[in-house]
Amino acid sequence: MASRRVRCKPLRWVGQLSSGDRVLRRILIAVLAIVVVAGGGFFAWAWHGELPAEPSRDVSTFDPAVVAKGANLVAIGSCAVCHTAKNSPSFAGGYPVETPFGVIYGSNITPDRDTGIGTWSPAAFRRAMREGVDRLGNHLYPAFPYDHFTHATDSDLDAVYAFLMTRNAVQKANREPALAFPFNIRLSAAAWKLLFLHPGPNPPDPSKSAEWNRGAYLAESFGHCGACHTPRNLLAGEQRGKAYDGGFAEGWLAPALNAKSPAAVPWTAEAVTHYLREGWDAEHGHAAGPMAPVIDGTSRANSDDLRALGVYVASLNGATAAEIAAKREAALEFAAARTLPAHGTTAQTTGAAPGLANDGTAIFAGACATCHHAGGELPISRPIDLSLSSTVNEADARDLIQVILRGIHPATNERGRIMPAFDGVLTDRQIVALVNYVRGHFSTQPMWSDPAKTLANIRNGKGS
Ligand code: HEC
Ligand code: HEC
Ligand code: HEC
Repeated sequence: MASRRVRCKPLRWVGQLSSGDRVLRRILIAVLAIVVVAGGGFFAWAWHGELPAEPSRDVSTFDPAVVAKGANLVAIGSCAVCHTAKNSPSFAGGYPVETPFGVIYGSNITPDRDTGIGTWSPAAFRRAMREGVDRLGNHLYPAFPYDHFTHATDSDLDAVYAFLMTRNAVQKANREPALAFPFNIRLSAAAWKLLFLHPGPNPPDPSKSAEWNRGAYLAESFGHCGACHTPRNLLAGEQRGKAYDGGFAEGWLAPALNAKSPAAVPWTAEAVTHYLREGWDAEHGHAAGPMAPVIDGTSRANSDDLRALGVYVASLNGATAAEIAAKREAALEFAAARTLPAHGTTAQTTGAAPGLANDGTAIFAGACATCHHAGGELPISRPIDLSLSSTVNEADARDLIQVILRGIHPATNERGRIMPAFDGVLTDRQIVALVNYVRGHFSTQPMWSDPAKTLANIRNGKGS
């Protein structure tokens, strides 16, 4: 009863308007009608039925070539990252995906029939990947990057399905997301889709090579590179006009990959391919932070696809071969001139605030120069020149601060280059002085405006 009264209130108020307000009344009724019809339309559009459960299937009926094709796409899509919790079996879910609205846990996507996706048909799986709707008809949150996976072809989605269905079934219940109102209502994901989901395949660009088109397809669909490298709006939708302008992920900056790239030496297809396979490139730097797990996947992808990704990603900066050669020469020359001043002398800076620079110089000489001393003797395999690292040339200080705080470590059980973590070794004041020194000495870019604030934001978990 109470709810009925509330619903009638606006209508009664319209009825009480004086005759002089008749025009206003008509407008109000029209607006109300639109809201009711549009609302009804929204619910009708947003409603998805349950799809029938698939009978259990003998997994040996899946074609091994299709399963292998799926494995490659799963590697490029880093599905394992968000669907594997720490110290837990692969794809069994429970990994916390942090969003500005709360935490959403990657689901169990093993073929377990109770807690995983064992009862899902290929059609149910395709619907989830394309429309973000689970088998029962519930809306899924876009922390699951279906706004990218929606561009995948049927045959590729079927291959991923075959790969997942041939994994070990793991019984592990899904965790409910921890989201604030109104995002805890799954229908809010439907409203998000109305704004930001552009379903279906992207048309190929006939003016470009087959390799470029393959790279574009992989980057935009399974690779979901834009999920981190494109800035998002307040509702967490990617800003389409700003594709690859650079975005944020887990307190790190995912640098621009287009003409706004901070790279001192513009990326080439060879360099991107090498970076995606090895996790570093001699003229660009090391993949740390949230890029490291992406590399765990791409390092296992097939080499033609890596090369295609390289061709596409390198094309985003729009630089001609001559421009790349000129910038490269200038950057290498600048790098070679970055000698480390003797302890206690004035820093050779391109604009560091006086006072801070000396302090930072001494800290660098003590804590960093053993490994990063450009042109010096090599105690270990030498890291890349800092002036060539995008981390030092980026628009803000957060990646450099993150690298200093956390260091660089090879993936679990793998060998690789190591840089110690300096969190707890250096004070915050020392880190800020050091960051100012590194930027001033190793970059031609202007000084960062407030690294102390960036550091404080990282410490408060407000890095993104
Ligand atoms: C950035 C993190 C992320 C990546 C990468 C990711 N997922 Fe997910 N996925 C999620 C989250 C989070 C959910 C749960 C969404 C929810 O609860 O609304 C999910 C849900 C799903 C579901 C629905 C499961 C169910 O029971 O409802 C499927 C299927 C799925 N993902 C498959 C994949 C595949 C295949 C890939 C790789 C191609 C992939 N995901 C990559 C985060 C991710
Ligand atoms: C989960 C977020 C995330 C995803 C997804 C992601 N990246 Fe990144 N990427 C980053 C971050 C963060 C960095 C900065 C790493 C660092 O500073 O060490 C980065 C760095 C890079 C760089 C080096 C840029 C430079 O100038 O140094 C390249 C190239 C790159 N990513 C390519 C890709 C491609 C191609 C894809 C898709 C296949 C991709 N990334 C997907 C977060 C991501
Ligand atoms: C024990 C040797 C070692 C020490 C000490 C060290 N680093 Fe590193 N650093 C490395 C290695 C190895 C890498 C990664 C591999 C590469 O760049 O080729 C690296 C990478 C970096 C990068 C590039 C990250 C990227 O994303 O491209 C920066 C910036 C950096 N170090 C800064 C510092 C600073 C500042 C200090 C001093 C606080 C320091 N390092 C101390 C070994 C060291």
